[in-house]
Amino acid sequence: MIIAAAEPHDVTKLLAFREEAAAWLRSLGSDQWSRPYPADKLLATIEAGTVFMLRDGHTTAGTITLTPDAEAGLWTNGELTELSMFVNKLTVAREYAGQDLGGRLLDWAGDRAHRVGAQWLRLDAWTTNEALQRYYLAHGFHHVRTVREGDAVNGGPRVSGWLAQREARPADHGFADRAPTPERLRFAA
Ligand SMILES: CC(C)(COP(=O)(O)OP(=O)(O)OC[C@H]1O[C@@H](n2cnc3c(N)ncnc32)[C@H](O)[C@@H]1OP(=O)(O)O)[C@@H](O)C(=O)NCCC(=O)NCCS
Repeated sequence: MIIAAAEPHDVTKLLAFREEAAAWLRSLGSDQWSRPYPADKLLATIEAGTVFMLRDGHTTAGTITLTPDAEAGLWTNGELTELSMFVNKLTVAREYAGQDLGGRLLDWAGDRAHRVGAQWLRLDAWTTNEALQRYYLAHGFHHVRTVREGDAVNGGPRVSGWLAQREARPADHGFADRAPTPERLRFAA
């Protein structure tokens, strides 16, 4: 399987992918991802080079967004002094579930974060989804804090999230990595 940066024409595929995940989440009784993701916002993240596709031939097996930009209102100024990369929108296609592809995508992200000099791989998971939180704990993440709507830090918007992190470290994820190596510490500027 190959991991590569998403291209603008992948927007449609990624939106369909998100819809597939949302339908599965609804079937589990979760309200996670019940609102459609705005296409313009997704395109902007693709153009910023932060969205990656896991391809199996012509099929998309998964996607992950990895960015140096923290979502406003979640992480404190103190935490943001520690160099970090943030994982968003990790998704594995249902037909590929159960093979720990998500774990390998997290290893790829941690390895890439390490290569650019980050100390932490961080994420925020759906506040009410304990099964998803258990998934991250089982993959070596530590719960940092749960931010609830109204507690936003740094004067950020009303957001919530179950914040977690693990050390960014080298890993053998086993994918053919076609994503150009990022410059070290782009976030240090
Ligand atoms: C999270 C994800 C990428 C992991 O992919 P994976 O490594 O192939 O792992 P699986 O899909 O087999 O899931 C592993 C376990 O976590 C559970 N799980 C994963 N995401 C979940 C979620 N959002 N809500 C509830 N349970 C979830 C699965 O049901 C499964 O449980 P089981 O072992 O009891 O069967 C994938 O499950 C997915 O796309 N989930 C939906 C989107 C999502 O929540 N992404 C995370 C955003 S922060």
